[in-house]
Amino acid sequence: MAPNNRFNYSNFTDELRARLSVLDVVGRVVPLTKKGQNYWGCCPFHNEKTPSFSVNEEKGFYHCFGCGEHGDIISFTMKHNNMDFKAAITELAAQAGLKMPDYKPRDPNIVKREESLFDICEKAAQTYTEKLFTPDGATALAYARNRGFSDDDIKKYRLGYAPKNNIIANKYAQSKHLIESGLCRRGDYGMYDFFRDKLMFPIFNANGKVVAFSGRSLDGSEPKYINTSDTDIFHKRKTVFGLNFAREGIHRANRSIIVEGQIDAIKMQLNGFPETVAPLGTALTEDHIALLCKSNRNITFCFDGDGAGQKAAARACDIVMQFLRDTSDVKFAFVSGGKDPDEILKNSGSDAMRKIIDDALPLVDFLWDLANKNFITSTPGGRAQAEKFLDNIVDKIVDTELKKHYKQEYDKRKFQNWQSWKKEKKSIDVKLPDIDGITKNTLVYIVNTYPELAERYLDFLGTLGVDFDATANDLNMNFEAAEKYIVSLKLQRYLEKLNSKKQILMNKLLSGDESVRDEITNIDADIKKYSEKLKLLITL
Ligand code: UTP
Ligand code: MN
Repeated sequence: MAPNNRFNYSNFTDELRARLSVLDVVGRVVPLTKKGQNYWGCCPFHNEKTPSFSVNEEKGFYHCFGCGEHGDIISFTMKHNNMDFKAAITELAAQAGLKMPDYKPRDPNIVKREESLFDICEKAAQTYTEKLFTPDGATALAYARNRGFSDDDIKKYRLGYAPKNNIIANKYAQSKHLIESGLCRRGDYGMYDFFRDKLMFPIFNANGKVVAFSGRSLDGSEPKYINTSDTDIFHKRKTVFGLNFAREGIHRANRSIIVEGQIDAIKMQLNGFPETVAPLGTALTEDHIALLCKSNRNITFCFDGDGAGQKAAARACDIVMQFLRDTSDVKFAFVSGGKDPDEILKNSGSDAMRKIIDDALPLVDFLWDLANKNFITSTPGGRAQAEKFLDNIVDKIVDTELKKHYKQEYDKRKFQNWQSWKKEKKSIDVKLPDIDGITKNTLVYIVNTYPELAERYLDFLGTLGVDFDATANDLNMNFEAAEKYIVSLKLQRYLEKLNSKKQILMNKLLSGDESVRDEITNIDADIKKYSEKLKLLITL
């Protein structure tokens, strides 16, 4: 293809379409709800009260059955913001966190340079592998074998050895782009190799071309791993280690597993989990998740069982929320009984590893645990913090229907927990009769069916001593009736309490205590007021 203006341009719009889902872009400004295959909302381009504006995420377009508007993320942004093409692209680039390309024709020199970079990396990979099987590489080879890599594994993943001398700098000295490849650096005494005395892991791009390397130290020196810095053909934030090998596995398993380390990823792939990948270095990025989500949105994170793993998991949550759809299955597994997947596989085998993956905690539970672990939820302040934490993270969900259900789920859990916190409170001075079985069943039904109501009348419900974990018979009560029921019960209970109080005070009065007379008058007024309210509510 000729490197002309159009070519460069459409490359970038393709990248935008790949990075941004139409649901994310439209969903920012139009509340959408999933119905059937598509998402629906009220059309922003004509006036309507019932949704006839549909968004098809898979195909990447929207269509309004009311006014006929139709298009993709770019036309949407243009039309909605009244922008021209270039402004819309700029806006979308900002949303995607991408840098705008300059609209100059693609420079043939750049194309040439990239080809030359691929070439250097390929040659280096060959050189490193050859070296691994020479006497120079004996220690590295022994190390690789000791870590469980067979010769076939070494061949498949193209492991190699970067010797102590400057083999690349010497061998490819005539190559123009050696420094840009990241493999060599220039020092006071000329060029030297960046990787020396390392076990080498090539990093492949999606097409299986070597674009960079990761080198592991063999003598215990720090850092344990060094990676090629970003180059024209390698962008660390956008590269997922092992993805070229895992693509088919991800498709077959209909999920991906993300582990922390690259050796872990390789070992998982070799031991029954071909759908496993790892970020490069320790930082997981949005780009990594976006890449994986192109296949499907089912991700099992598998973190090391140490403190760092817990932290990494919390960060992963933050990143993954915006990618959630109602069909997503996102889970968190933590390695126990060993340091990382590699150790588990080596010491306990793939069945033990499978158990860890199978026991992974769904995202909804993981977040809940996180909120309860990080804040002291036995205090009002801690509960407020936990609630804010949950609200903030759930707000990142783009799909409004899914967001609603997450909120409801947490409302229910908060309610059930606050329930036990309430019980710690000192009981009121007036004893009320226990509520009967029918009332109990009605309340349990309402709380389970309408968690919003549970939330709203939390304080009152908490005083009733009902076990809301119990199951209730179906009552088929609508929201309004349910709310009325709670309010009238609340009023009844309050009236009962006032009457008991009045009784106590009347007894005092009868035994000659005149000081309670005013209080009785006040209570009488209250009883009248609330009786009328209750009557009104029941006749409504
Ligand atoms: P770990 O410290 O868990 O290492 O770092 P590991 O994967 O278990 O390595 P082995 O088994 O000791 O060989 C997890 C990942 O963090 C990155 C690497 O990608 C590593 O796989 N890392 C770690 C670095 O980039 N540099 C380092 O110095 C250490
Ligand atoms: Mn390890």
